[in-house]
Amino acid sequence: MPADPGEPGHSVRLLFVGDVFGRPGREALSRGIARLVREAPLDGIFINGENLAGGRGLTASKVEECYRLGVTALTSGNHLFDQKDAEGLLVSDPRLLRPENFSAACPGTGHRIFTLASGYRVGLANLIGRTFMAPADCPFAAADRVLSDFEKAPAPPDFVAVDIHAEATGEKQALAFHLDGRADLLYGTHTHVQTNDLTQYPKGTWFLGDVGMTGPRWSIVGADPASALSKYRTMVPRPFRVAEGETLFCALLVTVVRPAQSGGTKGQVEVRLLREADGGGG
Ligand SMILES: [Fe+2]
Ligand SMILES: [Fe+2]
Repeated sequence: MPADPGEPGHSVRLLFVGDVFGRPGREALSRGIARLVREAPLDGIFINGENLAGGRGLTASKVEECYRLGVTALTSGNHLFDQKDAEGLLVSDPRLLRPENFSAACPGTGHRIFTLASGYRVGLANLIGRTFMAPADCPFAAADRVLSDFEKAPAPPDFVAVDIHAEATGEKQALAFHLDGRADLLYGTHTHVQTNDLTQYPKGTWFLGDVGMTGPRWSIVGADPASALSKYRTMVPRPFRVAEGETLFCALLVTVVRPAQSGGTKGQVEVRLLREADGGGG
């Protein structure tokens, strides 16, 4: 890993947020960021935006709203193309990633190095699973390509984070072993439920099965419980509605404590799992 730029002894705070669901999710994100910034500044904020707009996909205006909150970049997943804005955004907005292992003909990219205001560089990659999911290219081979690209960059990243947007825990854990020692953080998204398995793997990679949704707490993975429950019970499709009321803010806060002596070491990585309920907008 390359030497850290900037001041020795400085800490870098990076926030990773899972699926942000609809307006309740965007409001919970705003409140969650405000609470954390009161403790100390956040150097980078990374969210999964596949459910930003009404729970289904994302639009230019909702992405812009996130940038105004301080979001650095967005990953995505299977709901990316639920709204028509996504195709154009992937071309025009370098801060929006799509899964790297979507078709090579898909617009946009699934990985990029983001240079933060301090000069610290975060290499962010977005992968999608194949177990119980729509067909996609191999996420393991895609991860290898991404890491090779990061290594060959003129200014390689100081920290490498990978969002694995996937259903199956086994597939996510397999990727953890595949990337152990090669990425700093592998975090799951998509299931909308936070897992209690934050683990540092033997060669140093931090892993979390799923960060969990930031969105309406009393919901069925974000949807209004009445309509979703009725659909499960009767098999009759019901109109989809985003649930309202109390919200959950789920995130992973990574602090890289850089050594007091600059000497090419990466610094100590501390990871804090957040799952905070608040009043919500109703
Ligand atoms: Fe999602
Ligand atoms: Fe998803």
